Amino acid sequence: MIQLKNIEKVYRTATIETVALNKVNLDIEKGEFVSIMGPSGCGKSTLLNIIGLLDEPSKGQVEIDGKQTNGLSDAQLASFRNQTLGFIFQSFHLINDLPVLDNVELPLLYRNVSSAERRRLASEALEKVGLSNRMKHYPNQLSGGQKQRVAIARAIVGQPEIILADEPTGNLDSNMGNEIMDILLTLNQRDKATIVMVTHDENMAKRTHRLIRLFDGSQVS
Ligand SMILES: Nc1ncnc2c1ncn2[C@@H]1O[C@H](COP(=O)(O)OP(=O)(O)O)[C@@H](O)[C@H]1O
Ligand SMILES: [Mg+2]
Repeated sequence: MIQLKNIEKVYRTATIETVALNKVNLDIEKGEFVSIMGPSGCGKSTLLNIIGLLDEPSKGQVEIDGKQTNGLSDAQLASFRNQTLGFIFQSFHLINDLPVLDNVELPLLYRNVSSAERRRLASEALEKVGLSNRMKHYPNQLSGGQKQRVAIARAIVGQPEIILADEPTGNLDSNMGNEIMDILLTLNQRDKATIVMVTHDENMAKRTHRLIRLFDGSQVS
C-alpha cells in the first residue's frame, strides 16, 4: 500500500545542509496501523510528509496504492492526495471562521460532490467521531480533544484508504489522547484504513501493529 525505496531528504539553506532522512526503506501493507517514534528532529514529520506527497524526497521512490508518484505534476499530486490520503496534525489545522460542518466538508469541495451530498457525508463523518451535536459550533468553542475529532472527521470524509497522523495526541491530556487513539483504532479495525502515526507516546505506539524507530534520519528498528 505504501512503499518507500531508498529515500533521502536533504534540506539546504544558504549556510547549512541537513540530512533529514538517510536511505529509508519502508513497506506498509494495506490495513496496517504503524507508528513512528524517535527524538525531536530525527525526521518523523519529514517522513510523514513524503509519504503524504506534501514534500518530495531528494532521492528515492515513493509508491502509494500501487502508483509510482515520482514525476507527477502538482495538479496530479493534489488530486491523488485528495482521493487517497487523509491528514491529521498535532495542532488540528482547522479554519476558525468556519463552523465544524463546513470544516469537515472542505476536502469534498475539490471533488464533484453536490452540496447536499457534502452535508450528508460530513454529518456521517462527524457521527463517527461522536460530534453530531457540535456541527454548528466554531472551532474555538470546542475543547482540544473535540477539535482533534473534527480534524479526524475532515480527514475521513472522503473515505481515503490511508490516514496519516503527525502526533495527533501531542497537544491533548491523556484522557483525550486515549479517546483519539480509540477512534483511530476503530477506523483501522472497522473501516480497514491503513494508518501511519507519529507519536511520542510509547503507550499509544504499543496499541499499533508495528513500531518504526528513527534516529538522525535513519531507521533503527
Ligand atoms: N523546511 C526545512 N528546511 C530546513 N531544515 C528542515 C526543514 N524541515 C525540517 N528540517 C530539519 O530536518 C530535520 C528533521 O525535521 P523533522 O522531520 O521536522 O523532525 P521531527 O518531526 O522528527 O521532529 C531537523 O533537523 C529539521 O531542523
Ligand atoms: Mg515533527
